[in-house]
Amino acid sequence: MNEKIEKVKLEFEEKIKSDKGNLFELEKYFLGRKGKVAELFQDMKNVPKEERRRLGAEINELKNYIEKAIGKLKEEQETKEKAQKLLKEKLDITVPGLRLQNGALHILSQTMKEVEEIFLSMGFDIMTGPEIEEEYYNFEALNIPEFHPARDMQDTFYLLGKHLLRTQTSPIQIRTMEKYKPPIRIIAIGRCYRKDPPDAHHFPIFHQVEGLVVDKNISFANLKATLSTFTKRMFGEGVEVRFNPSYFPFVEPGAETSINFGGWLEMGGSGMVHPNVLKNVGIDPEEYQGFAFGWGIERIAMVKYNIPDIRLFYKNDLRFLNQFK
Ligand code: PHE
Repeated sequence: MNEKIEKVKLEFEEKIKSDKGNLFELEKYFLGRKGKVAELFQDMKNVPKEERRRLGAEINELKNYIEKAIGKLKEEQETKEKAQKLLKEKLDITVPGLRLQNGALHILSQTMKEVEEIFLSMGFDIMTGPEIEEEYYNFEALNIPEFHPARDMQDTFYLLGKHLLRTQTSPIQIRTMEKYKPPIRIIAIGRCYRKDPPDAHHFPIFHQVEGLVVDKNISFANLKATLSTFTKRMFGEGVEVRFNPSYFPFVEPGAETSINFGGWLEMGGSGMVHPNVLKNVGIDPEEYQGFAFGWGIERIAMVKYNIPDIRLFYKNDLRFLNQFK
């Protein structure tokens, strides 16, 4: 039995020299449930009782010896692996960083924000309305009945069931007056759609800013003052607004509005809210008056930033967009 123990010890010392790479196999081979050491314990059954104690101690000693040796090697290997890993993961903090490309708001979004801020500072609230609009709000309620010639230019993108892509932001006037009682002082900015063939000044998609004020004692003078103040804030102190008589079914009187910014440039329509429109939403035109206006956002941006072609807004050409970062 003693010889057997000695043999296992020798075998272990032999193997640990050659098999260092496979410590787990080695551990299993000697210390596993069916390993060499377990085998020795098993053999103890066959030795006389008096010797068992001594032999047991000896086998235990061998077991401890093997455990320690393998444990030490394992530790050594782990330290080595860690060091190698650290070496690989070393950071060179002197390498120049990567510069991230910042995006920016589209020039139309910037312009809309600017417009909103000016009107907010003048005490206006901001409203929104749906782009898929009901015929009633886009036309009828605005005093444009079904066969009125004023519909011609805007009889464009119809959808099912008396719905259409709104051709103007004026329907938000109606939606606002249905919901709130005067005094009303709002603007509404939004996207509009018309079947206009694209050229330098037309595009099937465009944006408008609608303004609406309804209160007692509102006159054309208030409209002039409001648009004139906005114009000076948007384009500069020296810039003026001009009103030319014009026709829109939902205002009376109505006017085209232009600004003098290197020549007179048309910005949109305006006027005093038509009594029929007020009646349509249950406001008494004898008691209340209002003014309204609708200017093109693209127009405002084109004039202010000297942009020659409306199609540039929708091309996503970075050479154009980056100029407004
Ligand atoms: N909605 C009109 C248009 O698109 C502009 C307008 C708005 C005119 C408000 C008068 C009052 O042409």
